[in-house]
Amino acid sequence: MNSSDALAVEAGLDPARRPAHVAIIMDGNGRWAKKRLLNRVKGHEQGADTVRMVVRASRELGISVLTLYAFSTENWQRPEAEVKALMMLLKRFLKSEKQEMLDNNIRLNAIGEVERLPGSVSTLLQETMQATENNSGMVLNLALSYGARPEIIRMVRQLSAKVAAGNLQAEEIDEETVSTHLYTRNIPDPDLLIRTSGEMRISNFMLWQIAYAEIYITDTLWPDFNRAEYIKILKDYQERDRRFGKVKNQ
Ligand code: FPP
Repeated sequence: MNSSDALAVEAGLDPARRPAHVAIIMDGNGRWAKKRLLNRVKGHEQGADTVRMVVRASRELGISVLTLYAFSTENWQRPEAEVKALMMLLKRFLKSEKQEMLDNNIRLNAIGEVERLPGSVSTLLQETMQATENNSGMVLNLALSYGARPEIIRMVRQLSAKVAAGNLQAEEIDEETVSTHLYTRNIPDPDLLIRTSGEMRISNFMLWQIAYAEIYITDTLWPDFNRAEYIKILKDYQERDRRFGKVKNQ
């Protein structure tokens, strides 16, 4: 038994039924701050600490891919000061966690219109992705300037260009073709989607990829989300009967 299997067992999880890919819509930073009469940015700062916790816990428990919805295409419309603060937190995170990613065999990946990020963030992101590209213990997949509909439009444009150039027949397009033209082409679909802060929405997140994901919504605000609750959700996932549209044991 390797160390992440042992830690999973210690946490009460069955290593054979662990989700390979956990995706999280991190929500509630603003409300967390408001409840404490603090500036929203304080909520994001606290949320960044929860990010560190969840990355560490996922690696320890043997999750293969962790996707975090860190910044949506819609988030560009937030007040400039908040966008700036989020970009600063992202830079701080990349700087402070690079060594941890190297030490723990974590590969950083990003999905979204990363070319829209400020130059300094994008440079740091590219550097960190390059430095960790040979790591194989876990993929930390950050959704940055990400929206599922723009991702789908991008895929449709790529495929139509190939069809127009005669490099692809329309009839050949299948699920595999679509999947391999999304940002997530090298990543399996999420098995488990967690959303914090009680909102029953998908918010333009991985619309194609979550077709068969198990969904768990917790009322906990993201800055209050902790390791114990994460493990509780992973246990809940293991109790579920995933049938992928078939009948039991088919
Ligand atoms: C949602 O809370 C959260 C975000 C829009 C951004 C998530 C960012 C972080 C967790 C911090 C930085 C990220 C990294 C990767 C270091 P909200 O502001 O929508 O909360 P509200 O709905 O309560 O207003």
